[in-house]
Amino acid sequence: MEDLEKRLTEDGSHTFYSKQFNETFHSKYGAKQESEITYIKGCNIKEKLTTKNHLKVIDLCYGLGYNTASLLEVYGQNIYDCSLEIIALEIDINVPQQAIKNNLLSFYSPNITKDLNIIANTQKLKKDNLNIELLIGDARQTIITLLRSNFKADAIFFDPFSPPKCPQLWTVQFFELVAQCLENDGILATYSCSAAVRKAMISVGLNIGRNYAMGKRAPGTLATKNNIPLQPLSLKELEHLQTRASIPYRDPSLTDNAIDIIERREKEQLSSDLEYTSHWKKRWLNFSHSFE
Ligand SMILES: C[S@@+](CC[C@H](N)C(=O)[O-])C[C@H]1O[C@@H](n2cnc3c(N)ncnc32)[C@H](O)[C@@H]1O
Repeated sequence: MEDLEKRLTEDGSHTFYSKQFNETFHSKYGAKQESEITYIKGCNIKEKLTTKNHLKVIDLCYGLGYNTASLLEVYGQNIYDCSLEIIALEIDINVPQQAIKNNLLSFYSPNITKDLNIIANTQKLKKDNLNIELLIGDARQTIITLLRSNFKADAIFFDPFSPPKCPQLWTVQFFELVAQCLENDGILATYSCSAAVRKAMISVGLNIGRNYAMGKRAPGTLATKNNIPLQPLSLKELEHLQTRASIPYRDPSLTDNAIDIIERREKEQLSSDLEYTSHWKKRWLNFSHSFE
């Protein structure tokens, strides 16, 4: 069982640090704020709850449960004529259980903390208008259950550790499966603005745009299947997609480990004709200096 260290973030909410992945579970700017801005606002949840009768959400990488908790908070703020179904994917049940044990999410209302407790302990929650299931295992496998049942999400909260730390969940092959679980008018939201991630999304047929910015972080990414208007990428971001940084992670058998996936990408970068990312960076640095 991994030893998870508790860390305070700038909005006063706590997160964990994972020694295994050498990364915190949330941005330093705020765990709760990240769930509200990147995922709830990014996926346009309030509008969807108002216009739909049934809202289906995939919380991909449930972790401590912030994204589901913030969704339940919004859902509880109004009487919506809309039922809510959440399928959450997580590899390590220890993470949500430790979050509960350490009372990390106890600033949510007692109803919500009670629900999170039930989810962490039974992996299921069923109420009148609410159905939540937490599938434990590698998301590359558990997503097959969703594909088999033809589950199409109106919103996907896409929240793995960063691409260099957990490339398994940012590959072209995994996005192919994830895109099949997205409703035609659905929105996938993530914090990542990596060119490799954006290129992988484009290569499986998703349209992409900027997500809302969180703290001083560069805006993440939103993806859809059709032409729902999204905030377009800047010229700098578009040019980033023409550099070697945009070579995506690949995992043809969907079973490779992080080291093999990273090595495969590095080999592809070495033999690429694309512009060096350092040249792109220098060009844009000179450009911004010309305004000083
Ligand atoms: C950045 S954290 C997610 C934070 C979470 N959304 C929250 O609100 O607390 C990434 C999570 O992905 C999980 N994870 C890592 N590899 C995974 C895999 N292959 N399949 C599913 N989950 C995975 C980790 O255990 C961790 O909980």
